[in-house]
Amino acid sequence: MKILAFNGSPRLNGNTATMLEYAISGARENGAEVELFNLYKMQFSGCISCFSCKRLDKERPIVCAVIDDLKPVLEKVSEIDGLLIATPVYYGCESAATRAFIERLCFPYLNYADYTTSHFPRRIPVGLIYTMNVPSELFEAMGYDVTLGRTRETLEREFGSCKMVLANNTMQYTDYSLYEANATGEEKKAYRDAHFSNDCQNARQLGEQLASGKVFNA
Ligand SMILES: Cc1cc2nc3c(=O)[nH]c(=O)nc-3n(C[C@H](O)[C@H](O)[C@H](O)COP(=O)(O)O)c2cc1C
Repeated sequence: MKILAFNGSPRLNGNTATMLEYAISGARENGAEVELFNLYKMQFSGCISCFSCKRLDKERPIVCAVIDDLKPVLEKVSEIDGLLIATPVYYGCESAATRAFIERLCFPYLNYADYTTSHFPRRIPVGLIYTMNVPSELFEAMGYDVTLGRTRETLEREFGSCKMVLANNTMQYTDYSLYEANATGEEKKAYRDAHFSNDCQNARQLGEQLASGKVFNA
């Protein structure tokens, strides 16, 4: 059981990396082999719209033609049994590196003649972890279920199944007295103490599910 995991946060010990570590532990403890990549440690761009992956004279599945740090990683994807992607929410969507990664990952598998099918050869489980400042009560009111749900649908279409796990109202600073913020450090810490360990357990369960190899129900 091979799983690739991607941290789409520039902070290597932040909320996103922590949630991802729980998911990875859940997968490893259940026998999966997991390789972790920190996207902000790699040099790569998003899709450059060359359409090399849509050429009819090429055999599918095709890996993105762009040569950079992502290319050898994308080459491993055809052999995997599961995928973990974790990202902070930036301006209502994934971090820039995560979006660039998802474009390069998904576009070559998209059947451009029939959007309902994928060139990826199997159905695999994909775990998608988001951490964000917005509290859970505002998640739908701010339309995050729709915008983030679109990314889940993209991954579901190309890989067969995808499940989202969230951490809301995360702490960004250790010492809130030093920074601009819409809440005090005490309020943030109280929320974190009440919720974050549960969020991390949800991430662990996600990893366990991936290790089982079972796809998620739509
Ligand atoms: C540039 C930037 C933009 C952000 N935009 C949002 C946003 O639109 N919605 C939100 O809920 N949180 C937003 N946040 C907060 C982060 O998503 C949140 O604190 C996250 O848990 C940080 O993850 P990390 O600890 O892995 O860095 C933003 C943070 C940054 C730095």
